[in-house]
Amino acid sequence: MRGGAIILSWALALLLAAGPARAEDGYELWLRYRPLPPTYAAEVAAIAPALAVDAPASPTIAAATAELDRAFAAWTGRPLAPAGTGETALLLCRLDRPCAATLPAHRLADGTGAYRIDRLARGSVAVSARDDIGLLYGSFALLRHIQQRAPLDTLPQADAPRVAIRMLDHWDNVDGSVERGYAGRSIFQWWRLPGYVDPRLTDYARANASIGINAVAVNNVNAPATFLTPRFILKAKALADTLRPYGIRVFLSARFSAPRDLGGLATADPLDPAVQRWWRAKADEIYAAIPDFGGFLVKANSEGQPGPQDYGRSHADGANMLARALGTRGIVIWRAFVYDPDPATERTMQAYNTFQPLDGQFDANVVVQVKNGPLDFQPREPISPLFGAMPRTQLGLEFQITKEYLGFSTHLAYLAPLFEEALDTGGLGKDGRATLADIVTGDKPAPTSLIAGVANIGSDRNWSGSHFDQANWYAFGRLAWNPRLSSETIAREWTAQSFAPDPELVGAIVPMMLASRQTVVDTMTPLGLAHLMGSDHHYGPAPWVDDLGRPDWNPVYYHRADADGIGFDRTPSGSNALAQYPVGLARRYADESDPALPFLLWFHRKRWDDRLVTGRSVWDELVVRYDRGVAGVDAMAATWNGLSGRIDARRHGEVAALLAVQQQEARWWRDASIAYFQSLAKRPLPAGHAAPAQPLDWYRAQRFPEAPGI
Ligand code: GCU
Repeated sequence: MRGGAIILSWALALLLAAGPARAEDGYELWLRYRPLPPTYAAEVAAIAPALAVDAPASPTIAAATAELDRAFAAWTGRPLAPAGTGETALLLCRLDRPCAATLPAHRLADGTGAYRIDRLARGSVAVSARDDIGLLYGSFALLRHIQQRAPLDTLPQADAPRVAIRMLDHWDNVDGSVERGYAGRSIFQWWRLPGYVDPRLTDYARANASIGINAVAVNNVNAPATFLTPRFILKAKALADTLRPYGIRVFLSARFSAPRDLGGLATADPLDPAVQRWWRAKADEIYAAIPDFGGFLVKANSEGQPGPQDYGRSHADGANMLARALGTRGIVIWRAFVYDPDPATERTMQAYNTFQPLDGQFDANVVVQVKNGPLDFQPREPISPLFGAMPRTQLGLEFQITKEYLGFSTHLAYLAPLFEEALDTGGLGKDGRATLADIVTGDKPAPTSLIAGVANIGSDRNWSGSHFDQANWYAFGRLAWNPRLSSETIAREWTAQSFAPDPELVGAIVPMMLASRQTVVDTMTPLGLAHLMGSDHHYGPAPWVDDLGRPDWNPVYYHRADADGIGFDRTPSGSNALAQYPVGLARRYADESDPALPFLLWFHRKRWDDRLVTGRSVWDELVVRYDRGVAGVDAMAATWNGLSGRIDARRHGEVAALLAVQQQEARWWRDASIAYFQSLAKRPLPAGHAAPAQPLDWYRAQRFPEAPGI
């Protein structure tokens, strides 16, 4: 009896360890390490019969060896034993150690985190770096290579980050909710910290390190000062201790009025010596707990947040005061997402008007963080005119990974093409030859070069709310590491690792991903339209809204549609926002000869019957674009349904269900928008295009009190 029980539990243990029955639920992200085909598995086993580490022990080295161990054990069926002297082994070599002499001669790129992977004469592989974090990044790069089943003879490889600070901004609140979060609650579990640190945070750190993310702001930019209280500093310390081995530094969003809110001071005026002393003491207190604390992220004088302008001071006064409190220990990331309380100036011009004159006034440890576009993370925007216009200021770039305006986590929209379109925008710099990527990286990576993304991570089992939204986290990290990577390369990497490195599967999924962002543009904001979403929650179409607190919160402000036409004239005959761009770029943005017409109605007002380069009238083109969007979603659903049986059932079913929602919502967007614009344009639909399913009032009456993320 007893023997039987032992055998039974032994068999059970074996079954659990083998684990093929375990359903895929997305938790493992792109770090799945599934079994390899026999021939390739044998090659992989041959490069790593054992592991040799020539680097002093450290938590980061331990993280690297644990990851290699985990992967190779899954692939070869046995853990990596430490190598005996002279034995062939996978080598982790820090370049200040004797192992360096055994490697092929090479030069490593400058900067923290650079690594190289070499094939060694005896058939094995060496990962080498100057620092521990480079060894961790190199280890992940090797695992990425193998997960894609890339030939091992295509090693060596060398790589180094082009941007120093590659950061996730979490908009997580004290109560565990997440502003613009569509993937559940905050992963940080503030209530349980610091006593209990969810082991999930180690998986979060692994995932981030695997794509090079090295900084996180853990709380919402709309932050109460609570996050700066001693209790919360201890919680942040627990997070920092967990993330540190993975090379990730913690930042806090800081409320500018904290000296008043917490310190009992009568003012938060940045020029007041007592205020300066308060921040200095606060910084000292944080550094005593978190010696590698990254610094403060600040949203000031924006959307009701306090700031230096409350005291007649400039953004530079405010940022520099905080920067001096941190000193050489950290940086201040000061957001340029501000728009004037006086809405007389056109909204998309306000941040430029406020910040550009301050060029040269910011301290060296201040980064001014600018959203990719001048408005607010729309499905498509031109780049912010601040890029290239502040040569004496370190500008950081802010993307939004969470899809506030691109269908939340219910729509499939791969964002790398959006990121890439911004990064590749040219016509900047002194000679007009720089791209946005050049501006952000600088000639050689500045220690404060920065790309940040508003995170799409939450407590959902699959982290991002939908499986394909994991690709946006992945792509963001890869592009922050190297802004010149192509969105296609990244999609291929991600798909091969997240589903399977099967050429047919990758060949079906990648084109679908690449087309998905334009599809969302077509279904929601075609032809350069923007900000047509429902009030507050930004869910669904609401182009008719005209009654919000200030003019530039209303969709009607942005599309300007009436009986005559549609679009916002931002040329010299209108607001002339175009003049904020360098001449060459302005010319490109105003161009109407590209049949893609990406920015037509962003920069131009057109009459409904104006003929476009496509040969259609503006009205007809609008309808055609909406229908193209619907067809695009249908095509995605068809592609995906065709992959049934080739992808594990659970993930396939979850994606299919969300695509069915997206099919319905694309029709809703199309119908509601056409019904509304037709009520103004009073033109018939072009032949072959169906009338909206419901009358306009029906769309106007829809309410969504349960919409998440507010
Ligand atoms: C958007 C978003 C807000 C957010 C703001 C910001 O406006 O809707 O929720 O606070 O951006 O970036 O600060």
